[in-house]
Amino acid sequence: MHVQLLTDYENTRLGERQPLPEAYLGLSDDDMDARITRARATLGDRLVILGHHYQRDEVIKFADFTGDSLKLAQLAARQHHAEVVVFCGVHFMAESADILGAPHQTVILPDLAAGCSMADMAAIEQLEVCWYELAALGIETSSVIPVTYINSTAAIKGFCGEHAGLVCTSSNAAAVMAWAWDRGEKLLMLPDQHLGRNTAYRMGVPLDQMVVWDPELPFGGVDREALERARLLLWKGHCSVHTRFSVRHIDQFRRQYPGGRVVVHPECTFEVAEAADEMGSTEFIIRTVSDSPPGSAWAVGTELHLVNRLARQLAPARTVTSLDSMGCLCSTMFRVSPNHLLWVLEGLVNGEVHNPIVVPEPTKQWARVALDRMLDLSRKD
Ligand code: 13P
Ligand code: SF4
Repeated sequence: MHVQLLTDYENTRLGERQPLPEAYLGLSDDDMDARITRARATLGDRLVILGHHYQRDEVIKFADFTGDSLKLAQLAARQHHAEVVVFCGVHFMAESADILGAPHQTVILPDLAAGCSMADMAAIEQLEVCWYELAALGIETSSVIPVTYINSTAAIKGFCGEHAGLVCTSSNAAAVMAWAWDRGEKLLMLPDQHLGRNTAYRMGVPLDQMVVWDPELPFGGVDREALERARLLLWKGHCSVHTRFSVRHIDQFRRQYPGGRVVVHPECTFEVAEAADEMGSTEFIIRTVSDSPPGSAWAVGTELHLVNRLARQLAPARTVTSLDSMGCLCSTMFRVSPNHLLWVLEGLVNGEVHNPIVVPEPTKQWARVALDRMLDLSRKD
């Protein structure tokens, strides 16, 4: 039996969070806009601001580049001229930018409390225990390729890099999984079970060749025979925003808009993904809905800020609504406010760096291996 020794990863999850000073509270929108514009102009091309599609309008309008996780990782790997990257997104995205950036660059996350509940569902210690227990169950871990969704800590990415695995995003999950199955008999996909299941099923993997590994249970709570048969081990993690969409929402929309179409993010449940017409990353969703014929009606199963922006941009030619009429908002993405953006930018103008993200070695080196494998693959697409 092959038993992997536990690796000594440092915890990169938490930095020292600097709270927003009182002077940055209660400012008017106009005042903030003017001061952010001034600070950006002063910093010039020393600064690049990256913004994820889920950011609020008051923030994303200042981004030099916007995108989904893959596009932003690719941009972070290219923007080596800038001294500072301010990442308007969540913690794992800023960590990836630091890993892919040049040594002279500083990455700032305007509010360090902008985390991701899904990324928090896979701790490095749990993954190490899982690896050990797989071996104890008689699984040859050298034939298991660990694949982590980019929505994970740098330490989880580091583990994947060090164990012949790699990172995926919602844009390239199928290509990454195909790459991994070329190299190993089984895949361990973490932390999002839904992205893994939805993607693999569309690649032709039947559900009975997948098992869910629950890190809270001894030996993942898996049945030994099912584990031996499985080609895909799905970590029991999920997105609390996307799993709120239900088939009932789809039925309601179809009743209201006969002929309307439904597009959802792959973090939605299997039932929702199967009942929808299209499934893909935020970049895919924007492209699909924008390129649809005038007169189309769409229900979109992803974060509310993106859906509302798309609805405004495409009206009146197309009708775009949230799949859930109450809307699903990512509260951690929302933590990055224009007040935080202003504070970090004025700090830079005054020579102060607030809320930097620094991934320590050796985690950084191995996480970079895992991210580079993904980026190489995406370049070949
Ligand atoms: P994208 O890969 O579409 O950017 O999704 C990131 C994310 O966090 C979705 O919840
Ligand atoms: Fe994380 Fe879900 Fe928010 Fe994406 S939408 S950042 S997966 S909590």
